[in-house]
Amino acid sequence: MPKSVTGFSKLTKEEKINWIASNHFFNANEAIQTIKQYWNSDADLQQLHDEFIENTVSNFYLPLGVAPNFLINGKNHTIPMVIEESSVVAAASKSAKFWSTRGGFKATVLNSEKIGQVHFIFEGDAQKLNQFFKGIKSKFFAETESITKNMQKRGGGILDIELRDKTTELENYYQLQATFETKDSMGANFINSCLEQFAKTLKNEAEKHESFSSEEKNIEVIMSILSNYVPNCTVRVEVSCKVAELAEKNISDPSAFAQKFVQAVKIAEIEPFRAVTHNKGIMNGIDAVVLATGNDFRAVEAGVHAFASRTGKYSSLSHAKVENDIFTFWMEIPLALGTVGGLTSLHPLVKISLEMLGNPTAHELMEIVAVAGLAQNFAALRSLTTTGIQEGHMKMHLNNIINQFNVTDAERSAIKNHFKTNQVSHSAVVDYIESLKK
Ligand code: MEV
Repeated sequence: MPKSVTGFSKLTKEEKINWIASNHFFNANEAIQTIKQYWNSDADLQQLHDEFIENTVSNFYLPLGVAPNFLINGKNHTIPMVIEESSVVAAASKSAKFWSTRGGFKATVLNSEKIGQVHFIFEGDAQKLNQFFKGIKSKFFAETESITKNMQKRGGGILDIELRDKTTELENYYQLQATFETKDSMGANFINSCLEQFAKTLKNEAEKHESFSSEEKNIEVIMSILSNYVPNCTVRVEVSCKVAELAEKNISDPSAFAQKFVQAVKIAEIEPFRAVTHNKGIMNGIDAVVLATGNDFRAVEAGVHAFASRTGKYSSLSHAKVENDIFTFWMEIPLALGTVGGLTSLHPLVKISLEMLGNPTAHELMEIVAVAGLAQNFAALRSLTTTGIQEGHMKMHLNNIINQFNVTDAERSAIKNHFKTNQVSHSAVVDYIESLKK
């Protein structure tokens, strides 16, 4: 069992690596070599990455791929995607190409409001608290002015603050719930700073409030934090075309395809086991662009799945219909994203990704990210309802399988050639490699 350690964070990077290597690895030198192999030779660049987090020992590479030909609201985009799963970028590209000749993607930001809460305990008369809140409401705005000044210049700020009585669910529990507009920043720091000031104002004012009893004066703030549930920060994306226009290589009967596709979506709408996988496919596209653009994919994931359960039952994020011979496929999702602040101006590849997208506003990025999700979902459902997912997936996965073996370049091309016409499976590849080596 590895030893515990004190003061680990104070060790230098070398010391940290040596400690890990000697305590966790049978072959310490090999471990050190692998960890260091991923260091960048540019010391400044390495330091930049080291400082993103704590106790950094190396870099963990993920591929950055690109999916071209995304026509969104009449504008062409090449979308950067950071993801480890093979076939996702290929699927996105295929979908993009398909829809680029059928009118492209239409995307609209519906709203962009974010929420933050001060959770507190008040032991006393709810009516008095209500009166008190009304009396001091303007102070919450006044005492956060130094924080909100710049945001207001950019057209954002605190939209409203309300007092919420949650005592029927938890004894003496109340909230200050505030709504914010954070323009091009994701806004987490801005919102949390405002909330912490609200909490101070709340406590200070309560202590001075004459009609409060001594118990009522003693408001206990439990915590102040933004919510990653953003049901009022949503974007709608859609594709549509005449059913007959769906015809393509694997879609010889577009009408049958459209019906089957709509059924597949309806299944995800009513069956949570399918909905989770269906939405996972959407998140393949969304997370990849969220990561490439330096946004917080955990926040996005948490918010999106909460939204998918908003009726009390987990359901599909996307929907499809055929009406008057028109096939329409669409989705509305919450996305709290930023194009300024955070990693956006720090990580060189994030800067590249944003520039590749034409340095979008946060609203434009919401549209692009949602489109990547819908495109991914379309590609997955198209495969699932026609050829099945494995054919394409295993073709893309072939490289990963080959890389597990020591093969020459000539053997690699022979394998790729062979599996152009034969079904790919792990054992089939192993058998074929063995036959080549004989
Ligand atoms: C795999 O990463 C994603 C899919 O399972 C999505 C889906 O089933 O819709 C193919």
